[in-house]
Amino acid sequence: MALSLDPRGLLDPLELSPSAEEAAFARLRAARERHLGAVPDWRGLGHRRDLLSACRSRVEEIRGTTAPDTLLVLGIGGSALGTRALLDALAPLHQECGIGGGNCRVLVLDNVDPDGIAPLLAALEPAATHVAVVSKSGGTLEVRAQFLVVWRWLREALGADEARARCTFVTDPERGLLRGLAETEGFAALPVPPGVGGRYSVLTPVGLFPALMAGLDAESLLAGAADCAARLAAADERHDPAGLLALAHVLHLQAGRPIHVHFVYSQRAATLGAWFVQLWAESLGKARTEQGAAVAQAPTPLEAVGATDQHSKVQLFVEGPDDKVYLFVAVAESQDDVALPAPDWDLAPLHELAGRSLSEVLRAERIGTERALREAGRPVGVLTLDRLDAEHLGRYFLLMEETTALAGRLMGVDPYDQPGVEAGKRIANRLLAEGVPAVAAADRLTC
Ligand code: PA5
Repeated sequence: MALSLDPRGLLDPLELSPSAEEAAFARLRAARERHLGAVPDWRGLGHRRDLLSACRSRVEEIRGTTAPDTLLVLGIGGSALGTRALLDALAPLHQECGIGGGNCRVLVLDNVDPDGIAPLLAALEPAATHVAVVSKSGGTLEVRAQFLVVWRWLREALGADEARARCTFVTDPERGLLRGLAETEGFAALPVPPGVGGRYSVLTPVGLFPALMAGLDAESLLAGAADCAARLAAADERHDPAGLLALAHVLHLQAGRPIHVHFVYSQRAATLGAWFVQLWAESLGKARTEQGAAVAQAPTPLEAVGATDQHSKVQLFVEGPDDKVYLFVAVAESQDDVALPAPDWDLAPLHELAGRSLSEVLRAERIGTERALREAGRPVGVLTLDRLDAEHLGRYFLLMEETTALAGRLMGVDPYDQPGVEAGKRIANRLLAEGVPAVAAADRLTC
């Protein structure tokens, strides 16, 4: 079982001469050497049995004491999107109904909009809810606000001791507000390794703890990631799918194709698009290189879902400006394929579908869109997951993280910082200290 990348058509539209191609792969070789020369901590997460064991112990403790039917995850950005992607892909129904057997449905709260939080809390039962407060830094504004609200909700219903037993912090092992609170107030806390930043953290307790609470196969998630990391490291630069993806995207960026479309042909895996968009945008959307030079072009990631977006964005993709690169993400084997039955009416448009299956319809639509784009001269790659299971998701997360880190190295930017997020945060924190202006009606155009 593996992921496979069909790279034909990704590099072709660039029409590289043999010497330009040679130079491009030499660049990739240097980027890989730099990347693998100081192996980032997220790359080894597939081997971190200690993190998995810590999560398992906490899950057993929770099941043996408070036995919740719902896990409410508080977090934002990299502390929420991986969990959402994982749960949507592997346990879509858990989010709508408890599944019993000790497993929880998982709800991820990744906003501070009162119109979302108030009705959600009104619909939940505090005694049957466990709350994961997830923040690597431990002090993100949104998570602090969410925690204040949810803690009050738990404490008023159950008292402080029972409320505390229903909380687990997932945070830095040494620093930050949550870690301090865990130490002084006795909240249970799981560690996010210091060298792993938010958007690279899905394979830490950030994603593992919710996965185990939902009864998912976190072991295979890690095994898939570990095997993928080993294979990527062993491949040479012409056979490294992460390197090829990174190189193709960066070359197209420099050739005037800054929009990078992640086109996921799977309902359950659709949230992978949102996870990827955050990873690509925060890692590569930089003004300056690591040496301080201005970055000429930064990419804009865009998510799309097949077949849904064939009736929305594909018109633009095929006939609009040639400023995009397309990575299709396909699932080879559906778990619950549905046969199309013979129609009750003698109508040719229905008869021609009978005997086919929904997975064939979806596949035909994907291949049709790929070919239409290729015929229009657009760069298209196809990444296929043999199955949508924990092992393949582990591979997928690792592959896309590696692709992102390599793209950063090729562009000369730091794929691990996010300085542009700070300015807005500083202003928001100052406004909260000094007084937040009301939404003013003056000087507005109204209708
Ligand atoms: O990728 C990142 O570093 C960010 O998106 C963070 O995940 C996000 O800002 C949340 O940060 P934290 O986990 O520290 O609360």
